[in-house]
Amino acid sequence: MKTYLVQPGSGIENMQLSEIEKPILQPGKILLKMLAWSLNYRDLLVAGGQYGLGLPSPLIPISDGVGEIIESSTELAGFKIGQRVALSFFPDWQDGPITAQKTKKSLGGTSQGLLSEFISCSPSEIVSVPQFLSNEEASTLPCAALTAWNALFETTTNLPEKKVLTIGSGGVSIFALQFAKSAGHKVAAISRSVQHLNQLKELGLDEGFDSINNPKWGDTIRKSSFGEVDHTIELGGASTLPQSIKATRVGGEISLIGVLAGNEAEFNPLPIIMKSIKLQGIFVGSIAMFNRMNLAIEKNKIKPVIDKVFKFENADSAFAYMAKGNHFGKICISI
Ligand SMILES: NC(=O)c1ccc[n+]([C@@H]2O[C@H](COP(=O)([O-])OP(=O)(O)OC[C@H]3O[C@@H](n4cnc5c(N)ncnc54)[C@H](OP(=O)(O)O)[C@@H]3O)[C@@H](O)[C@H]2O)c1
Repeated sequence: MKTYLVQPGSGIENMQLSEIEKPILQPGKILLKMLAWSLNYRDLLVAGGQYGLGLPSPLIPISDGVGEIIESSTELAGFKIGQRVALSFFPDWQDGPITAQKTKKSLGGTSQGLLSEFISCSPSEIVSVPQFLSNEEASTLPCAALTAWNALFETTTNLPEKKVLTIGSGGVSIFALQFAKSAGHKVAAISRSVQHLNQLKELGLDEGFDSINNPKWGDTIRKSSFGEVDHTIELGGASTLPQSIKATRVGGEISLIGVLAGNEAEFNPLPIIMKSIKLQGIFVGSIAMFNRMNLAIEKNKIKPVIDKVFKFENADSAFAYMAKGNHFGKICISI
């Protein structure tokens, strides 16, 4: 079968399309014929060697994908042959609070990823995906969508109506906007692109702030008619965090998710103390959260936003396109 392989540390541009043995069905396992995949910024970090040491090498990249169950050597409780399923980013995090043990294995990171024609896994690692979504749309759910869902509804305080701030217009922030609006929250976003802010408004964004012409956007948001934020979905990292803290109200919450603008910047923790802000790291989510999110997606008919779909044979172009950083929404690969 065809698969992609990369040496972590060598960069995604050195990923190779290769021929390897199709997995043989082992006892207790199922076989999936993969249909579609979606890319995450993390896939670039893994390939670039910025995602920890000791990863398998060579590594099959990508954590997010959807496939059809074509064979099973075990009882398929709740699933059937021919069903479309996604794999969980953390195959061992079934439910309950996060632990080191549950998150030791991550697809396309500490264990092999999904960018292959066929995948063998355990039935406990899969999740049924909403019927009304296309293969590509369903492939966007395991990482970006679940992270946004976890931040908004699983790990932080559930207020009936809150003011949410998101950073940029990538996969996580667009899902956060869609989920927050479906829950009746008000949402503001910062973006480096006025065009992206207009596109976010079409998805229901209440207020957009241009972060290029206004690098001190934290104070601007706080003093604007939108006002102080209850919950910030922080995706920029160390260099956007000070502005996020400024925008967030006393007693508010910040979900720390991403490092788009880099890991290193001078950072003063004092305002977090003075404003009594709850700073919460978020790491994707469990299989139980994934199932709860899918119910909400189904109920609210939330359609993932896809920027572009590439063919399996052109997966290298999909990564190059993501590296440019001008996309709006998810980048997918389809068989
Ligand atoms: N903790 C977790 O479990 C978890 C899960 C998923 C993702 N993440 C992390 O969350 C971050 C976002 O992931 P994603 O998949 O949504 O990424 P993405 O789809 O690649 O998002 C890129 C968007 O972020 C904005 N952006 C890019 N560079 C920026 C910069 N230097 N400063 C501010 N904004 C910038 C851009 O929006 P504009 O052009 O509109 O500004 C861009 O469209 C990444 O760091 C990723 O590794 C973490």
